Amino acid sequence: MSDTLRDRSRAPRPARFSRLQRSLHWLMAVAVIAMLFIGVGMVSTVSPAYVPLLTTHRTLGIAILVLAVLRLAVRAARGTPPLPVDLPRPMKIAAKLSHVALYGLMIMMPLIGWAMVSSAGNPVLLLGGVQLPPILPANGAMHAALWKAHAALAFCFFALILLHLAAGLFHGLLRRDGVFESMAPVSSERRREAPVMSESATRSRRSDDSA
Ligand code: HEM
Ligand code: HEM
Repeated sequence: MSDTLRDRSRAPRPARFSRLQRSLHWLMAVAVIAMLFIGVGMVSTVSPAYVPLLTTHRTLGIAILVLAVLRLAVRAARGTPPLPVDLPRPMKIAAKLSHVALYGLMIMMPLIGWAMVSSAGNPVLLLGGVQLPPILPANGAMHAALWKAHAALAFCFFALILLHLAAGLFHGLLRRDGVFESMAPVSSERRREAPVMSESATRSRRSDDSA
């Protein structure tokens, strides 16, 4: 391990994600899941609900983009709790890669949506009459490609969220290694009692409830 990495691993890190990080995580989880359902709902409807659904979809999508950037800034400032030391290396790599992909999708999906509406030559109208500037010139071929990318990535997003949910439950219910508690919205009573499982796995994640 390089000196820089060793120094970073020795640096003090919070045992749980901060309260702000946890709040953003759960707020955005609800928003992203709502977006997937609103998206599928609006493309499958022929009713007048299409227009308000699309306006809500654009607005919530742009809010997700703003919150994702804020969340990455908070993450850079506050850091993350280390994964349990006894977590097998392939699982650590999978966790990190899946988090990169989740952040990537939380940023790419809204940008592709915004670019898609722009390239269709349509105004990017949000709730409250707010209008965003186009980020691409009108271009039919580009619009078709972005439409396909938006739909395909939405599918990947959904699949990744299911995997992430399964991983979260695996940590929380089977492995009980403190990973789920590190992101749980509120601290459970069990966390306040003496830990009963492997010290090495849980030490770094259990001890505080930092704000
Ligand atoms: C996290 C952000 C987003 C998610 C998860 C998301 C998800 C989706 C989904 C699931 C669909 C339906 C795809 C299909 O079944 O064909 C869709 C369609 C669409 N989305 Fe998004 N979207 C996001 C952000 C945005 C943004 C920011 C905009 C525009 C500013 C946007 C504009 C559209 C449009 C125009 C459609 C197609 C509507 C149609 O063909 O009738 N999306 N989106
Ligand atoms: C749309 C839904 C969701 C998205 C986009 C999402 C996204 C993320 C991201 C990006 C991280 C990494 C945080 C960081 O390192 O800064 C994370 C961590 C985490 N998420 Fe989610 N999440 C979602 C839903 C859920 C659900 C439903 C659960 C419940 C099982 C969950 C449990 C966790 C846990 C336990 C962590 C901490 C993992 C660790 O430290 O390695 N997430 N989530």
